[in-house]
Amino acid sequence: TRHLLGIKDLTPADISLLLDTAKQFKEVLQRPVKKVPSLRDVTIVNLFYENSTRTRISFELAQKRLSADVINFSASGSSVSKGETLLDTVNNILSMKVDMVVMRHSASGAPHFLSKHIPAAIINAGDGINEHPTQALLDAYSMLEVFGTLKGLRVAIVGDILHSRVAQSNIHLLNKMGAEVVVCGPPTLIPKYIEEAFEVRVEYNVDKALQWCDAANVLRIQLERQNQVLFSSVREYSLAYGINRERLNRLNKKITIMHPGPVNRGVELDSDVADSDNSIILQQVENGVAVRMAALYLLSGSGNS
Ligand code: CP
Repeated sequence: TRHLLGIKDLTPADISLLLDTAKQFKEVLQRPVKKVPSLRDVTIVNLFYENSTRTRISFELAQKRLSADVINFSASGSSVSKGETLLDTVNNILSMKVDMVVMRHSASGAPHFLSKHIPAAIINAGDGINEHPTQALLDAYSMLEVFGTLKGLRVAIVGDILHSRVAQSNIHLLNKMGAEVVVCGPPTLIPKYIEEAFEVRVEYNVDKALQWCDAANVLRIQLERQNQVLFSSVREYSLAYGINRERLNRLNKKITIMHPGPVNRGVELDSDVADSDNSIILQQVENGVAVRMAALYLLSGSGNS
C-alpha cells in the first residue's frame, strides 16, 4: 500500500506528478459540473484527533468531488474518551469496509505508526510538529500559479518554525524542487538543527528576510504547543516580527504573502496585509481542494501510480 506520510519520502518526480494532477483537477473544479466519478465505490474516513477547519473541509470536499463515500470521525465525542486506542479505533472503522484513511493527530509519527499496522492507504493531514504534506503541496501549487516555477524562487518562512509541521513540509518540498529558503523568527522559535538538517539560511531580522524574498509564508504562533516561555509576549512578537503594511511599504518591490491559516490577526499578520492584493491566502485554500483530489486519486490506485 502506498501512503502520503510526508514530503520527506517523495522524489521531485512524485511532487511534480501530484502538482500536475492537481492542475487537471483544478480545471475540473472550474466547470459547472465539478463532480467526477474517479473514486466511486471508494470509502474514506477522515480521522481527526486534532481540530481543523481548512484541511478537514477541504479533504471532505475533495472526496465528494471525486464521488467517494465519506465518513468523518472526530476524537472528541467518540469512544476515544472511554480509553479506546488509535489502533483499535481504526481497525473497528476499517472492518466496516473503509478503504482509505486521512488522519490528523497531535502526536508526531502517529500516521507512520498506523501505516505499519493497517492495510489501508493513509494520508497524513498533519502529525504533531512533524509534517503536513498536503499543505506544502497546496502552498507549492499556489506559488507555481503566481511565479510559474519553484526553481530559484526565494521563499521566506516567517514565525514559529519550531512548532511548525507546515514549515518542515514546506522546507522539504522547496529544497527538493530547487527553491531558495530563508527561515526567519526569534532565535527561541527556530530549532538549532535546522541549518544542518535542511538547505536553509536563518535570518533573525524580518525586514531583511522580506526584502530578500519573492514570497513570505507567514506562520501562526502556536500558543497551544508552547511548553515554555519562548518569547516574552505576543505583543513583543508582533512588534518585532509581525508583518504589517508599514513593513511592506518600506520594501522596494511587491512580495506575495501566504499563510496556512488560521491567522492570528494583529499578531503574526495585520489585517491590512492579510486582506490586501499581496495576499494569496484564500487562493491557497481554494487550491487545497484540487491538491487533495490529486493525492486521493493517485493513492487510491486510480491513476495506476
Ligand atoms: N492550514 C491548516 O491546516 O488549517 P486547519 O488547521 O484549519 O486545517
